Amino acid sequence: MCGIVGYIGFRDAYPILVKGLHRLEYRGYDSAGIALMNEEKNLSVYKTKGRVNDLEEYVLDKDISGTIGIAHTRWATHGEPSNTNAHPHYSQTETLALIHNGIIENYAVLKAELQKKGYTFHSTTDTEVLVQFIEYIKQLHKCDLFSAVQIALGQVVGAYAIAVMEKGNPDQIIAARKSSPLVIGIGDGEYFIGSDASPIIEYTNKVIYLDDEEIAVIKRHEEPQIVTIGNVRKTPQIKELEMSLSELERGGYPHFMLKEIFEQPQSLTNCMSGRINVEGTNVTLSGIIDHKDKFLNARRIVIIACGTSWHAGIIGEYLFEELCRIPVVVEYASEFRYRNPVVYPDDVVIAISQSGETADSLAAIELARKSGAFVYGVCNVVGSSIPRNTDSGSYTHCGHEIGVASTKAFTAQVAVLTMMALTIAKEKKTIDDKKYTDTIKELQNIPGKISQILDLNEEIRQLSYIFTYAQNFIYLGRGYNYPIALEGALKLKEISYIHAEGYPAAEMKHGPIALIDNEMPIVIIATNDTIYEKVVSNIQEIKARNGRVIAIINEGDEVIKSMADHCIEIPATKECLDPLLSVIPLQLLAYHIAVNKNRDVDMPRNLAKSVTVE
Ligand code: AGP
Repeated sequence: MCGIVGYIGFRDAYPILVKGLHRLEYRGYDSAGIALMNEEKNLSVYKTKGRVNDLEEYVLDKDISGTIGIAHTRWATHGEPSNTNAHPHYSQTETLALIHNGIIENYAVLKAELQKKGYTFHSTTDTEVLVQFIEYIKQLHKCDLFSAVQIALGQVVGAYAIAVMEKGNPDQIIAARKSSPLVIGIGDGEYFIGSDASPIIEYTNKVIYLDDEEIAVIKRHEEPQIVTIGNVRKTPQIKELEMSLSELERGGYPHFMLKEIFEQPQSLTNCMSGRINVEGTNVTLSGIIDHKDKFLNARRIVIIACGTSWHAGIIGEYLFEELCRIPVVVEYASEFRYRNPVVYPDDVVIAISQSGETADSLAAIELARKSGAFVYGVCNVVGSSIPRNTDSGSYTHCGHEIGVASTKAFTAQVAVLTMMALTIAKEKKTIDDKKYTDTIKELQNIPGKISQILDLNEEIRQLSYIFTYAQNFIYLGRGYNYPIALEGALKLKEISYIHAEGYPAAEMKHGPIALIDNEMPIVIIATNDTIYEKVVSNIQEIKARNGRVIAIINEGDEVIKSMADHCIEIPATKECLDPLLSVIPLQLLAYHIAVNKNRDVDMPRNLAKSVTVE
């Protein structure tokens, strides 16, 4: 949430910062701003409500010279999106400029204290309080900027990634983090700062990930110094980025979301590569094998996640219970962290997250670890906070996901959970050899079958026109397809802003059936699984009330074809792998409806890609 980019070196900072903001815009996009220091050591802040393009227009007649600068694209927490609430924020004397990602929880107390001392505020943000507070500390202690940041952060409660510049000091940026990611890119005589690596990868693949409560002093001609808030000096650990620049481009597609939907055959192949042997007879996840006893002796598995990752978690529940016979509970991380849950030391907690930075999931992990449970991360972003705060884990390896609506990350999460369940089941001997190898072989067929479904893109686009102006949608599914109903509904509401509800199909008669009339589109996933007949009955119940049925069926299903208004035919697979196929047409349907409605598919209103605040 919110994008941070910074540069200090020998080149013009402005083009680097603006390009970086464009790359980070998926993280937040309600306002944007930049702070630059010119040769005369003057510090200028330019900011505006709107997108990065609006900022570029705004600075057309401004001095944008300088080889040091920081920039920000915002997702509002405190204070509406506006010119004044946009970052960077100046301190009282306009000698400091600061950008911030996160939430300062005790900002109101700090603000009241500062107001008593005569400080005035222009914005309603917590960020302006922080920069004013740093300046106040600096004046009070007559210390340098680093010490002022260190002392101030010691008194701050909350989450932050910050970068600060000081007028008259063109050789230094101070950066710090707590519970919000921050990466420093190391170039040749230049440094880059990013809230993730996307604005950096073009210039260098050498990075330092700051850890919680670390402050970096980034000086033009020196190696970055890293010191904690508690004044412990740290040796910077330089890591190599795995990301490639092409992942950050749309590659000819009109939207990242469509590109990412179409990448799924390849992203799933990558996800399985090196884990399933060529013959398709064995799957090994080293993160599990290295801690086999934890899984074999687990009293239960607790899955924690948010949003789409939570939907993947429900599929995980069905997989682990069916294949490994381990009891599973799936929890929203945001509920788990605050409801004083019972966690046993012999529980295995699985945290699922695309970004690896979701604040609620990180807090839930901390709680689980304090209770002594073994915590396993299923994560996409390499080097992000979740993999660094878990005991073991598996990366989903689906590549950088930029579209705010998660697609390829979801299928990769489901694939990893399937491979986890197979690995544990084999070790636990809860699966027979035939089922084990049949499932692995079919898992290998999934990328090819997804390609077949992607061939239906035009058919689904045509179908989308019929439903573009619907006010509401219901999505229904049972068994492994129930979480897909939830996911289909989430995709539609996120990007088209149409109200949509996902339900287990059989629950319909306990309430939602009252919503059905001849205007209500009902998407029902009705593949040929063990409860197929029951789903057929559900369709009949809907048709009896004149609902408009869009059914996702297996190829050649004449029974449902004769009942439903519209059918999308997908290849058959093993029941436990159904979600990997049935979700694809729902991603495409949501995408096309949103495009028909002229929505900003990759940056839908009010959302941001990684939710690093509560
Ligand atoms: C999915 O389309 C979402 N935008 C959102 O629900 C997301 O899945 C959720 O915020 C969790 O994110 P994470 O996987 O990065 O933890």
